[in-house]
Amino acid sequence: MFFDNAIHSFEDARRIAKRRLPWMVFDYIDGTAGTGCGARTNRAALDGIKLQPRVLNNVEERSIAGQVFGSTTKVPFGIAPMGMCNLSSPSADRLLARMAAKDTIPVGVSTVASTSLEEMWELSQGSAWFQLYISRTTETADRLIARAKAAGYDTLVLTVDVPEVGRRPRELRRGFKMPFRIGPRQFVDFACHPAWSLPQLVKGKPQMGNFGGAFGEFDREESRAGADWVTLARVRDQWFGKLVLKGVMDARDAKRAQECGVDAVQVSSHGSRQLDSAPPAIQALKTIRDELGPEFPLFYDSGIQSGEDIVKAYAMGADFVFAGRPFSYGIAANGATGLRQMRDVLAQEISITLAQLGLRKLKQITREVIASPL
Ligand SMILES: Cc1cc2nc3c(=O)[nH]c(=O)nc-3n(C[C@H](O)[C@H](O)[C@H](O)COP(=O)(O)O)c2cc1C
Repeated sequence: MFFDNAIHSFEDARRIAKRRLPWMVFDYIDGTAGTGCGARTNRAALDGIKLQPRVLNNVEERSIAGQVFGSTTKVPFGIAPMGMCNLSSPSADRLLARMAAKDTIPVGVSTVASTSLEEMWELSQGSAWFQLYISRTTETADRLIARAKAAGYDTLVLTVDVPEVGRRPRELRRGFKMPFRIGPRQFVDFACHPAWSLPQLVKGKPQMGNFGGAFGEFDREESRAGADWVTLARVRDQWFGKLVLKGVMDARDAKRAQECGVDAVQVSSHGSRQLDSAPPAIQALKTIRDELGPEFPLFYDSGIQSGEDIVKAYAMGADFVFAGRPFSYGIAANGATGLRQMRDVLAQEISITLAQLGLRKLKQITREVIASPL
């Protein structure tokens, strides 16, 4: 059968990735917490936001450049931190870092990235943001912060919505483990997906880039439930660069984070991988923007699948928007070409959406572009 590998939409990237990836890897990336209700309600909320078309504004000259912490980005979206990106392809981290350098956008480097934070800083030519998880003992976090500082990072993203890793049935069913282990079940799965397995075989199994050797091993099951506002204050004292608090869904928490001196809040439901019954993240964004006022830097991620979704997030109050899965799927579908196509799909959709709304640049997006009652 003839398969067209070109990506014209998020759904294309997801469909091709699903075909190429082992079931275990696809379920790790695609999976959500619980029943998947959180992802469905966020999708429904994004779909429920309608944008008001406007006509006869001259929109010939348009720009989709964005702004984040005073820097101009070529596209108004960044790459959310994702653990073990190289599961989608052995070159995933390198491709993401290169895209970040080229588009001058942030690429999140997870605590559990498959490439070390030092190497990602180099590869991204200084576009990387380091994402930190804090475990029971703060010692590992202290050492990671020190490493990020030494490498030259200027932005730290503290993720606080994983007091315990959400139960993700699709991962559990496939026997997914971090660090990555290969048993008989995985062996069959990999044998059925040679397009993925052969390059992985050549490169060796994906590693936890920030762990191992003298630094010690990573324990995914270790509880992070002990982190509290004192922990945040401690990180704030240690980190002189920009500090982003990621995974905030409640206006009271956002307010308190602002008072604690964070430089930005990232509204996120962790791509619906944590609390299945959480309200739609896109709705939380609006509530939090209303609470914090127009000036405080607010970022958004979760469930972005198109340029129109990105425009909606800006309309709901985001100053910058991140996506995760679209880029993993693009890479899994067709490596560097797939990533570029996915990036271009989002960029072109944003530009075309601006035209339909009678706008020329991102700064002109306000709540007024929303047609549906809020
Ligand atoms: C495979 C995968 C791994 C992730 N790992 C992390 C992580 O290590 N740290 C983190 O803060 N968020 C992590 N996230 C959440 C993302 O940063 C982001 O919140 C989410 O992917 C956004 O939703 P989207 O994938 O629908 O764009 C991960 C998400 C995925 C899909």
